[in-house]
Amino acid sequence: MMKKCEFIGENGTFRLTGAQRYRDLYFPIAGEYGLKSAVTPQMAGDAKLDQNHFLYEPVSSCDIQNRRFSRNFWVMADGCEPWSAMGCSSMQRAAVYTKKEETITVTAGYMWQEIKTEGKYLPLTATTTMFIPVDRNLEVIRVEIENTGDAPLAFESCFAIPLYGRSADNLRDHRHVTGLLHRTSVENNIISVNPTLSFDERGHQLNDTIYFANAKSEGQNPDSFYVNQNDFIGECGDFERPEALFTHAAAVANGYCENGQEAMAGFRFAKTVLQPGEKKQFLCMAGVCHTAEEIDGMLADLSEPKEVEYELTRTRQYWQNKVNLKYHTADENFDRFMDWVNFQPELRRLFGCSFLPHHDYGKGGRGWRDLWQDCLALLLMNPSGVRQMLISNFAGVRIDGTNATIIGEHLGEFKADRNSITRVWMDHGLWPFKTTKLYIDQTGDLDILNQEVSYFKDRQVMRGTEVDNKWTEQMHWQEDTRGKEYHGTILEHLILQNLTAFWEVGEHNHLRLRDADWNDALDMAGDRGESVAFTCAYSQNLLELADLMDEYAKTNPEILLLQEAAVLLRDEDGLFDTPEYKQTLIKEYGSKVRHVVAGIRIPFATETIAQNLRAKGIWLQEHLRKTEWIEDPIGGGWYNSYYDNDGNALESAGENAHMMLTGQVFAIMSKTATDDQVKQICEAADRYLYDANCGGYRLNNDFGEIRTNMGRMFGFAFGEKENGAVFSHMAVMYANALYSRGFAKEGYRSMDSLFRQSMDFDKSHIYPGIPEYFGRGGRGLYAYLTGAASWYLLTVVNQMFGVRGQLGDLVVEPKLLASQFDESGIAEINLKFLGHEWTLRYENPNHLEYGSYRIQEATCNDQALTVTDGCIVIPKNHILNMDARVNNKIVVHLNE
Ligand code: G1P
Repeated sequence: MMKKCEFIGENGTFRLTGAQRYRDLYFPIAGEYGLKSAVTPQMAGDAKLDQNHFLYEPVSSCDIQNRRFSRNFWVMADGCEPWSAMGCSSMQRAAVYTKKEETITVTAGYMWQEIKTEGKYLPLTATTTMFIPVDRNLEVIRVEIENTGDAPLAFESCFAIPLYGRSADNLRDHRHVTGLLHRTSVENNIISVNPTLSFDERGHQLNDTIYFANAKSEGQNPDSFYVNQNDFIGECGDFERPEALFTHAAAVANGYCENGQEAMAGFRFAKTVLQPGEKKQFLCMAGVCHTAEEIDGMLADLSEPKEVEYELTRTRQYWQNKVNLKYHTADENFDRFMDWVNFQPELRRLFGCSFLPHHDYGKGGRGWRDLWQDCLALLLMNPSGVRQMLISNFAGVRIDGTNATIIGEHLGEFKADRNSITRVWMDHGLWPFKTTKLYIDQTGDLDILNQEVSYFKDRQVMRGTEVDNKWTEQMHWQEDTRGKEYHGTILEHLILQNLTAFWEVGEHNHLRLRDADWNDALDMAGDRGESVAFTCAYSQNLLELADLMDEYAKTNPEILLLQEAAVLLRDEDGLFDTPEYKQTLIKEYGSKVRHVVAGIRIPFATETIAQNLRAKGIWLQEHLRKTEWIEDPIGGGWYNSYYDNDGNALESAGENAHMMLTGQVFAIMSKTATDDQVKQICEAADRYLYDANCGGYRLNNDFGEIRTNMGRMFGFAFGEKENGAVFSHMAVMYANALYSRGFAKEGYRSMDSLFRQSMDFDKSHIYPGIPEYFGRGGRGLYAYLTGAASWYLLTVVNQMFGVRGQLGDLVVEPKLLASQFDESGIAEINLKFLGHEWTLRYENPNHLEYGSYRIQEATCNDQALTVTDGCIVIPKNHILNMDARVNNKIVVHLNE
């Protein structure tokens, strides 16, 4: 399957040969202190701390191939034009597809990349390694030149990296003028750019950031420097043909200062001679800091080759330790692919959704739904710290059930919206419960529901439809009439989020779409649009929250709820059938909590509230079943997912069938769809949405029209992004829903198609991992930073391998297909649960198919386990009494 890009070891390390032909690939590298880089096979790409602090010029995906700057290293030998170790010279670029083409091989693993260029113009090989030490905002770029000829090789050399040193906003907002702010100097072989002022969205202010670089070579310092881009490239050159290197233009010396020029880090080394087979290392480090005093510390212990090697090993180890899930199935490629899927949520934690070349929107931070869904993966991989993260995140909920949409870098930092636009995404209230439920299942920590947390407060009230004129900037949190910050339990936050959603309906009595749901691009049906898909999803929340509260009631028979919330509990006969009544009720609640709350909480029997939520969940599902099922005359059927702004159902069957995946996912997951309906949905999805050449199930089929009464997605070309691409996130959730209903074969089809497409480099053109979507020609786009990874990982662990938490107990219920067991009938997973390490091994010696096998017997550390209803349950209490230092081994024997 993988021709050019293949795994070469554990932990997902992979190799791509011939990378010079795939220049627009990018790879993420970051540290824990804020520096985030994107690097292409030829060392182009940018690096930044955040939107306002870019070390190198920001690049979008369409730029990386066309721009001429990179982290370049030049070799100047007699008898040859200057030669680039990254293949980034006009001469080498022009040679691609000719006899002089030089092969570049990329090898990469978690947070490091190595490229090897085999010289054809010069008898040498250059190996460039890049990484960011975990605790320094510093890129380390090490170039090793080896003389592969049979005669001594003499050359001068030069690092040449343009420094941008300002806000991404300045790319098209005073690009020239902000260059005039630059103050560049060379001291002690360190080139630093210390702009006088910074111009960005925060206004004009004194700059407090230094962008710097330093280079050395095995103890030898550079003998001169280039600090001014214009001087370096000259009147007719560019970064791939810099005049200074062709004309041997003089460079500047230590002590030099330059004002108001586009800066660069150019370090020129005097002539060196390598004997045949001899190697020499050149090291460049480029970083960002706030005071000149920090620089020495940041560069310390990185002068000697062995120190650099040590730091590289430490960095690699650090990131490997972050991933503590391992799989063994019949397909080793799949197991290695999962190494990257496991790592992707870490990347999203660091990069957010804004800082890789495709993600050229946003200004950092993370969106509300992404934040909660990323926690899902962290819960499976790195549960420590997640409790606090959840508690802090709940403080982003407003008292009216909506929430802040942008979450800052630090816990508890919220903003209404990146552009201060009032928008309400109707799915936002859904995700906190999903994540909290997983947290409670993984830990048994029902007590988290008792934690008291404040509510976010800003100008927006009445679920984003009005503004609170009494609000002042000082009021970040909801206050009561006495001006005291109001606190409610996490359970109260969850109840408010789900109940307010329940009442906010449109004319068909489904929840209003508002400014969009999960599908951000359904953003033009704010008045009359309804999301049937997320009505299903909320019905599941109401039912599951009710079940959880039944458990919780055992130790907490009574709960306290905000006095004003009583109205949300109404449930008189016939009430739910009238949309107008619901609309009035939600307004009534909104007015009660418009500016401040009374600050009084009243007690309720936990069971009564659980029953109240359950009745609402049941009502929703019955209503959905009655009104939204579409029968296809040629077989199968599905649920309508939306109503448009004219109040019409978006989907229809028949000759010109229109089908969307989202509605099916949540109808199946919530159990709104009956088993028979699930079969029919699969039939229809296979007919209208499945595309074997593009990774599986599309988000919709081609509606063939621009629907201004639904959303901008219909303006995108069909097959791209939210308009009918194979959008990994929803395709994975489709699989998850199917597995959860016991449709393992059907769920696997979606998971397997995504995996195969991702790993088919010739089509997907991406490094291993799951991209946000597959577009034209099956190409993978928006690599790495996608919520799909969390759900993929969750589905593999909880569904395929069937190992999951249930209120802190460990439950084992395999749903692997026969083809997933290796030749000896073994499949295995290593994971962490309740702070213990576990190896779970399935033995299926007769290669029986899912549905034909059952758990015949099982042991944990050689002690027999009881099988009940086809599952194994190891109680939490039992686990807590086990020795946390040993790796526990569960062996499960499957047979007829
Ligand atoms: C992106 C967004 C996500 C949104 C989705 C569909 O998905 O991050 O919030 O729901 O598009 O519009 P992702 O990149 O996470 O796959």
